Amino acid sequence: MPGSARPTVAVIGATGAVGAAFLRVAEERDFPAGELRLLASARSAGRRLRFRGEDHVVRETSEETLAGADIVFCSATSEVSKRWGPVVAASGGVFIDDGSAFRMEPSVPLVVPEVNGDDVEWHRGILSIPNCTTTPLVLALHAMRRVAPLARVTAATYQSVTGVGAAAARELRAQLQAIAAGDDPAPPQELPHQIALNVIPQVDDFSEEGYTREELKMQNESRKILHLPDLRFSATCVRVPTMVGHAEAVHVEFDSPAPLQALRAELQAQPGLELQDDPGAGLYPTPLTSEDDDSVFVGRLRRDPSVEHGAVFWVVSDNLRKGAATNAIQIAEEVLARGRLGTREAARAL
Ligand code: A2P
Repeated sequence: MPGSARPTVAVIGATGAVGAAFLRVAEERDFPAGELRLLASARSAGRRLRFRGEDHVVRETSEETLAGADIVFCSATSEVSKRWGPVVAASGGVFIDDGSAFRMEPSVPLVVPEVNGDDVEWHRGILSIPNCTTTPLVLALHAMRRVAPLARVTAATYQSVTGVGAAAARELRAQLQAIAAGDDPAPPQELPHQIALNVIPQVDDFSEEGYTREELKMQNESRKILHLPDLRFSATCVRVPTMVGHAEAVHVEFDSPAPLQALRAELQAQPGLELQDDPGAGLYPTPLTSEDDDSVFVGRLRRDPSVEHGAVFWVVSDNLRKGAATNAIQIAEEVLARGRLGTREAARAL
């Protein structure tokens, strides 16, 4: 960013659900963007979006519109990430990707700053943010592993439709309106089945082992972020008819005793996490609790009597914010704070 203290920032996918959250969070956190370029597909070129009280014209993502960008946030499709990530990195910019394209690449840090912010140090121009179910989970597990080493995790998720994208949110709304009017909803386009008044035990495609790719992402990404390559892990990911906020019921087993009081204290001390746990008073987080909030919320903490050293908890976070936009902006803040912009040389080694 020659001659300027503020980086030139580009947002690929600015017109999407995460893109909208990104603009809100960047404004709230006063992210030090100099020039801001809002990019999307050719379909959106010419649209206007507001940022800091000003209209910005959306442009098509291209070599030209990305040229000279210091930080590029991307939340579009895997193909878009694969197309532009290496281009940005090779030109000396930093590409922060919300997609799964690069997450498991050994040369790409996968970062939740409160857990493994140090991994930002070794980036070579591309950094990934985890899947929106992984981020809240690892934040809670990171706090708990200060009490005792993690041995095994099982989780069931309750994921909102905005995790699929803005079009899936419109689909749920249209189905609900049709049902309320006494009509049959139109056949689903964005989800494999009707989501209104339903739950779908499929998020992403199935792998040969019978797990969905979302479930494998949770497993593999958690291991990478926590630096626990052998962590035993099994998940079932479920889409539910909520608009925003992913929830997870998690069972965690430890290698040694992990008293509830100690777990509670570590959860309370964990930056980025809020404990809401007084079930007798009806206090526990729901997806609506998390909406438009950057915290990860934990509640329903209790002992798991089915194993020797185990606990059960419920974790919720806004999938568009901490699950995506906020985490991406926090990574950029780490990059700036650590002076890790300007990787022109290292990028050549990719
Ligand atoms: P567009 O609105 O022009 O289609 P969501 O996940 O909410 O569906 O959003 C996806 C985002 O990814 C949108 O901003 C969308 O832009 C963007 N996108 C999709 N395909 C491309 C592409 N080929 N190049 C750049 N951005 C894309």
